[in-house]
Amino acid sequence: MNIRDGLANKTVLVTGGAGFIGSHLVDRLIKVGAAHVVVVDNLFVGSEENLVEAIATGKATFYRDDAELSTSLEYIFANHTIDVVFNCATKALNYSFLNPANAFDTNVKVVLNLLELMRRGLFKTLCHFSTSEVYGSAVYEPMDEAHPRNPTTTYAAGKAAADMAVESYVRMFDVDAFIVRPFNNYGPRQNHKGMLAGVIPITAVRLLAGGTPEIHGDGTQSRDFIYVHDTVDAVIKLYEVQPSGETVNISTDNQITINELIPRICTYFGYAGNIERKAARKSDVLCHNASNQKVKTLIDYQLTPFHEGLALTLGWYRERLRGLSQ
Ligand SMILES: NC(=O)c1ccc[n+]([C@@H]2O[C@H](COP(=O)([O-])OP(=O)(O)OC[C@H]3O[C@@H](n4cnc5c(N)ncnc54)[C@H](O)[C@@H]3O)[C@@H](O)[C@H]2O)c1
Repeated sequence: MNIRDGLANKTVLVTGGAGFIGSHLVDRLIKVGAAHVVVVDNLFVGSEENLVEAIATGKATFYRDDAELSTSLEYIFANHTIDVVFNCATKALNYSFLNPANAFDTNVKVVLNLLELMRRGLFKTLCHFSTSEVYGSAVYEPMDEAHPRNPTTTYAAGKAAADMAVESYVRMFDVDAFIVRPFNNYGPRQNHKGMLAGVIPITAVRLLAGGTPEIHGDGTQSRDFIYVHDTVDAVIKLYEVQPSGETVNISTDNQITINELIPRICTYFGYAGNIERKAARKSDVLCHNASNQKVKTLIDYQLTPFHEGLALTLGWYRERLRGLSQ
């Protein structure tokens, strides 16, 4: 049974909407008929290029600003009558090794700013993006939504605190907010630059630049990779049916180890050379095997096979880097 009307004709704010998942969400919101999509992103990692198609429709407005500052959100809300907010703003997990306190702060402050605006009645529904990182290494598998939260980084600690803030505002003030908890996403537009990049883009770009791929630790650490369009599809569907205050995992039922992943990327690019072994990254979780039972009971859950999504993704990086080098 639907709890909320669809997103057609709604004015939607996406924080972190120039980033990887956020920008795909913006495109999808326009496709499902949102009246207007407002994006706030400080371009810490995000890029205006990710929004080119959205802006071209005339249905999106971009603010380069900092959602950690309540004043930034205040003036955006003064300019637009927002119905729904999707909170995607974050600073990448790896950043928490450089600036642990700010990684924590960003995750907590942005959501608190939004919750306060919602409590004051400035918008109706919040969809908050959590992360599988809040679980830490698996105590049991597959990890369902009741798995203990045991963050191993300040990034994840901030995300766990943010989740609890959302849950407590729902209990205290009866606001309409729900939490989606994606596992590792991959796909076009994922940041490939510097130490904040994800493993798939960083390996793809390294190989395309003639470099040597790397595996950190013994490579037996595994991840549950989900194609970004599948995550966005699930979030759009969950919006209509997910009860306020609840959390839903968004992942696949497939585990892939880094030892399996890196050679697959090498094969795609026809690389048969050496794979460099590096020291394990401190606090790298060993396993993220999710349970999808809950999401499957709520929506028609469609997943792209990993080999298809990986080929689409690697093809995108090849085209993109070719474009940049011309
Ligand atoms: N990518 C994944 O595998 C994954 C997995 C689990 C959960 N998530 C969650 O999904 C959401 C989106 O992640 P993503 O992969 O698209 O990350 P991303 O880094 O690509 O996007 C986050 C965006 O937030 C922006 N940002 C950072 N600080 C900001 C601030 N103070 N004000 C405004 N904008 C700010 C960044 O510039 C970036 O564009 C995040 O909440 C993340 O925790 C992502």
